[in-house]
Amino acid sequence: MSELIQVLTQDGSYSLRSILFQENFHSLKGALEETKIKFTNPSGLNRFKNKSINVLDICFGLGYNSASLFSDLIKQNSLLNWYALEIDKKPLEYSLNNNSFLELWHPKVSKIFDFLYQKNQFEDQFFKCKILWGEAREQINNIPPEIKFDLIYLDGFSPQKCPQVWTVEFLSKVTKTLNPKGYLITYSSSAAVRMTLRNLGLELFSIKSNFNSQNKWSQGTVAIANFSKNKFQNNLYFDKLSLMEEEHLLTKASIPYRDPDLNSKAEDIIKERLKEQFLSNMSSTKKWREKWK
Ligand SMILES: C[S@@+](CC[C@H](N)C(=O)[O-])C[C@H]1O[C@@H](n2cnc3c(N)ncnc32)[C@H](O)[C@@H]1O
Repeated sequence: MSELIQVLTQDGSYSLRSILFQENFHSLKGALEETKIKFTNPSGLNRFKNKSINVLDICFGLGYNSASLFSDLIKQNSLLNWYALEIDKKPLEYSLNNNSFLELWHPKVSKIFDFLYQKNQFEDQFFKCKILWGEAREQINNIPPEIKFDLIYLDGFSPQKCPQVWTVEFLSKVTKTLNPKGYLITYSSSAAVRMTLRNLGLELFSIKSNFNSQNKWSQGTVAIANFSKNKFQNNLYFDKLSLMEEEHLLTKASIPYRDPDLNSKAEDIIKERLKEQFLSNMSSTKKWREKWK
């Protein structure tokens, strides 16, 4: 479907660039680092040591987020029920042919990935995994409705490039599959995405940078339906939104992406949002940017 170019990122891990979407799969700073900081660390996987966990990976791509998840869950004997949504098989094919990717993980990961590629599923006494190939907006309907996810990873291309997976209507479907105590995790700190998740009833948190990083910007968002506030104080990886981030949500940038029948083209979703922003009385994002430099 797509044309993909190999990219070596600064932490030595490989990623891809999509010509179709005109965007890289990962930050140039490091694909592996991004997975750890933005997805694995905030997941709090030790909560599921020797227990069962349901996970949905939306936009599986090369599989960094799930490979990291699988490796950690294997080491702590968790029982996993996993689903993934992805439109293109080529990134997985690339991962299976790239030893420096496979060597990053527990050896069982390459066996699981091989099964996902050949048979779309994998099952043993610990893991039950199924990948649904195709448009995420359609394939999400093929997840059995009784399954509620403890973790949802949302790793689509940016809202400006791939708005289809960030709309009110799609995120409403996604959040219906979230267990009340489950975490929806994304690298995106877009005001539109955050406001959509808040309006869907989720509590928002901002993913922190790692300690050594000079970059103090948010690394993404964790959204939780039913969060126990007393556990929050000890959380190393995410925090309440700062005043700056809250004020961002009061600007026109927070106007959501909409896809009423879940079949709009990307350019139409963007165009309709621009119209809505133009007509809105909300404060300008430019002023917010100037205030917070
Ligand atoms: C940023 S990359 C994902 C990176 C990935 N999580 C990884 O670890 O490599 C975005 C992925 O979304 C997929 N994608 C784009 N539009 C999609 C759609 N409408 N439905 C499902 N997958 C989609 C692309 O094929 C691509 O693999």
